[in-house]
Amino acid sequence: MTVADDPLSDLLQPGETSPLIVIASNRGPFKFHLKNGALQVERGSGGLVTALGALAEQHDVLWVAAALSKTDRAWIEQTGDQPAEVENIRLRLVRSSRKRYEQYYNVIANPLLWFIQHQLWDIPRTPSITLQTWKAWRNGYVAINRLFADVIADSVKDANRPVIIFPQDYHLYLVPRFLRERLGDEVQIQPFVHIPWPGPDAWRILPESIRDEILVSLLASNCIGFQTRRDAFNFVQCCRFYIPDAHSRGSRDSIYYQDRKIEARTYPISIDVEKVEALIEEPETRLLKSQLINAIGDHRLILRVDRIEPSKNILRGLEAFRALLVNHPEHRGRVQIMALLVPSRMEVSEYQDYLQQIMAQAGMINAEFSDQYWEPVRILVGESYPRALAAMQLYDVLLVNPIADGMNLVAKEGALVNQRDGVLLLSEHAGVFYELGEYALVVSPFDIYSTAEALHQALNMPQDERHARAEAMRQQVQSADVRQWFYRQVEDALSALSSQARKSSTPATPGSSTSEAANTEGGVSPDSTPSASA
Ligand code: F6P
Repeated sequence: MTVADDPLSDLLQPGETSPLIVIASNRGPFKFHLKNGALQVERGSGGLVTALGALAEQHDVLWVAAALSKTDRAWIEQTGDQPAEVENIRLRLVRSSRKRYEQYYNVIANPLLWFIQHQLWDIPRTPSITLQTWKAWRNGYVAINRLFADVIADSVKDANRPVIIFPQDYHLYLVPRFLRERLGDEVQIQPFVHIPWPGPDAWRILPESIRDEILVSLLASNCIGFQTRRDAFNFVQCCRFYIPDAHSRGSRDSIYYQDRKIEARTYPISIDVEKVEALIEEPETRLLKSQLINAIGDHRLILRVDRIEPSKNILRGLEAFRALLVNHPEHRGRVQIMALLVPSRMEVSEYQDYLQQIMAQAGMINAEFSDQYWEPVRILVGESYPRALAAMQLYDVLLVNPIADGMNLVAKEGALVNQRDGVLLLSEHAGVFYELGEYALVVSPFDIYSTAEALHQALNMPQDERHARAEAMRQQVQSADVRQWFYRQVEDALSALSSQARKSSTPATPGSSTSEAANTEGGVSPDSTPSASA
């Protein structure tokens, strides 16, 4: 893709130079594997990659991601540590040792940070911060974030145009600070946090120096993107609470630190509407849909589609389904719950245990209620996006009941493709609640009784009401797709860059801080233990 062909050039003001955009994320858009001795490319998976993948294909961006396997590392050998074009995306992978990666991903990012941000820890018992955790922090998380910054800095060093860097998610919280140290104030650094950002209390679990290192690094950014206003507000509160020199000056969405103003903005992520609409017309999706129609027969379908992930609250969802069959026996024999579950983070013991518990619970419900014609619970484990899209067209009720969720794109995909005026049953703690909650039946994820009642209500909802809700949701999803999410961030970055350029061309007034320079030097050193302020 040439710069001139890039639709992003429409966002530029006359005379502005097209920026070099870098997306950095742990999981990249592709994984490589060996077939007959040759490296083959396969699409990466997960919400972030699905959302950003299509965008990266259509725009002039460089994507920096971690090498996740031996074969990813073999690809680096082949490309000689330089960005290379793969299926229209310019890609560069960050290489690390397996041990470091394991410490960064399986000890710190998942479960420690993920569980804090989704508030999943059972705090009287877990987690315990041990010597192993500290080692994983320094030798894994900090080291890999530094490697990411090195690779990004190396990739942009010769750019003779503005540079915008978008580090994605909780794996890369330290990248802004390392980048600032390497590249100075000229580059625009805008991380996006895909997962919930809880208030200050949740972060008590982290030792003070680790917590502050994360916050101070994020404050080396120019702007930090969050899914909801609540997340942005919580971030501002955390900085005020834990970082002695950070002040919000009454604002809910910005913070002043070391003479700079850092914005905490809201950009709700979405799906690629055009792409999803095209995918449901693909022969594979159509075939899977007809197979599912046969399998479901004339049962009503309650569907859920999730990674096997404790925050998704799959166990309470099954418990609610059981309560529906107990409290409203008229649904027995008539309704089936189907869970399409994608294996995830299976190296982490919490995830292995969770899968076992799901299978055991599904088995118990089937043992209690099935008969020769009806099996109430069907669990399909495996990853198939076409199958998920096929099933989403067919549900009567879509159950999305996470304990906490940054956004939840399944709710948006379902709303877009469903053909049965299906009802969305939605947790009040999913980010998507702020966009679709108005048209959904909203439940507390902890309230099994009310979730069962809401299932009953959804199954009995009059057709015209189902239709009105489903139509309104579809329109909402169509009106704000993932391009908008991305373009708004690029637009904000461009306008920050041009106002910074204006400022630096204005002569300084004595005594004023004209450049609002980032001074991250004094922020944290790896071993510093800044003191908390209340
Ligand atoms: O933002 C959370 C997220 O990165 C999602 O994009 C994605 O669905 C999931 O986590 C993937 O996790 P992992 O890369 O660990 O499989």
